[in-house]
Amino acid sequence: MTTQQATQILDGNKTAKLLKEEIKTEVQKLKAEGKKTPHLAAILVGSNGASMTYVNAKEKDCHEVGFDSTVLRFHETMTEVELLNEVEKINNNPDIDGLIVQLPLPKHINEKKITETISWKKDVDGFHPMNVGLMFKGLPCFLPATPFGIIKMIEHYQIETTGKHCVILGRSDIVGKPMSALMLQKNCTVTVCHSKTKSLEKFTRDADIIIAALGIPQFLKANMVKEGAVVIDVGITRVDDPSNPKGYVLKGDVAYDEVAPKCSYITPVPGGVGPMTRLGLMLNTLNGVKNRY
Ligand code: GUN
Repeated sequence: MTTQQATQILDGNKTAKLLKEEIKTEVQKLKAEGKKTPHLAAILVGSNGASMTYVNAKEKDCHEVGFDSTVLRFHETMTEVELLNEVEKINNNPDIDGLIVQLPLPKHINEKKITETISWKKDVDGFHPMNVGLMFKGLPCFLPATPFGIIKMIEHYQIETTGKHCVILGRSDIVGKPMSALMLQKNCTVTVCHSKTKSLEKFTRDADIIIAALGIPQFLKANMVKEGAVVIDVGITRVDDPSNPKGYVLKGDVAYDEVAPKCSYITPVPGGVGPMTRLGLMLNTLNGVKNRY
């Protein structure tokens, strides 16, 4: 008979706070050496509630670690040409080290065109094809913030990856695809499942590590998970809840209450991957400056 070890919570708030302290120290060192203060710029178009929250949070993170931060806010009627001009201005501004254009953009603006106009040397989101290519080759680059944050979390908790079967749910450009490349680099055997995968639970039941990034609230149920698995929940969906003062609650892709007892490690939602994503962005901005010297 085997005894199940207690489930360990992967605390994103605590881990990000610790690692942010390290960034703060590095920024102080840069300043003491007379080098540049890292400067992150964010562009927000329109007034999407979640986007405004994310941009405000990124601005707060910058202040906490000692970065300079600029947020440019534009009305949703801004044209694509106007936005392209703003991106070019920042590309050419030597004081700014990193630029993010918060997504989603209004429908009349082509997101691909915008993300590909951001200089890949300032692309701290890691969305530019140049950075994607460098990442797949395992070369130094800006990694997409969420996969980067997840890797930092795995390393912080010293979770074994070599030879493990990692099943990723979702094949997005932002999470699923880059995550597969990074877990391969960590010597995992990687399976990527998506909306067209047949008998998906066959794969998840065999997984040592599951990274759920489908955007379907409460998708992963206890009967889909092996005892002792590591479960990382990237999902964060606003689900209507009239009983909540905000009118919604945040739900992950994992049915946490039933899945958690089976896991060796699990991330909560909120307070798991979210804070680590923000950390990934800070690390990219810092690395961008350090690599200049
Ligand atoms: N919208 C949701 N997530 C992201 C992100 O990581 N970067 C940007 N730019 N927009 C987002």
